[in-house]
Amino acid sequence: NIWPIIWLILAYCIGSFPTGVLYSRTRHDIDVRSLGSGGSGATNVGRNFGFRAAVMVTIVDVLKGLIPVLIAKNIFSESPLIIMATALACVIGHSYPLWAGFRGGKIVATSIGVLVAFNIYLALVLVLILGILIFLTSTVSLSSMTSYSIIALYIAITNPEPVYKVGFILIALLLLYRHRTNIQRLLKGNESRINWGLNKPN
Ligand code: G3P
Repeated sequence: NIWPIIWLILAYCIGSFPTGVLYSRTRHDIDVRSLGSGGSGATNVGRNFGFRAAVMVTIVDVLKGLIPVLIAKNIFSESPLIIMATALACVIGHSYPLWAGFRGGKIVATSIGVLVAFNIYLALVLVLILGILIFLTSTVSLSSMTSYSIIALYIAITNPEPVYKVGFILIALLLLYRHRTNIQRLLKGNESRINWGLNKPN
């Protein structure tokens, strides 16, 4: 049966949609990956183009994980393996996008989309932890890595399905790997923080 393979390629292509790069190129005539942290995600888009742009990129990047996994849950409801592989195909697409020179993002939003499709309550807990950590630390990278790792570990411990245990640990590991330059900056103490707009020059 060739359909699962075709489906996974399609999920990879959907994950590859380069939201942040497309936004910055079309609206500001520049590749967001040449600015700030070099990231293509909402954090770097927001850092350079403002809050509204960040919200837009977040929504589209979440949908890239959410929609394919919801479809997989319907079409391949009997197969946790194909459902989880769909999730991985989306986040791999986001990390190594076919449409943007294989230089993609850090998978935070897309992995949250995957989690929403998997378990909306866990996703809400994650967003709550993420929000609290961002508020406390003003550091999106640290907050993203911590909150997603906690939820992935929780799934690995409590979910009876081995495929989901392994799958979410793999997503968390990819998320950490994609943040390796952030980790280096965090260790050196020079990771960038959110500017809440309190010290803007008049
Ligand atoms: O959205 C990814 C976030 O965790 C870090 O982004 O641009 O600060 O490397 P950035």
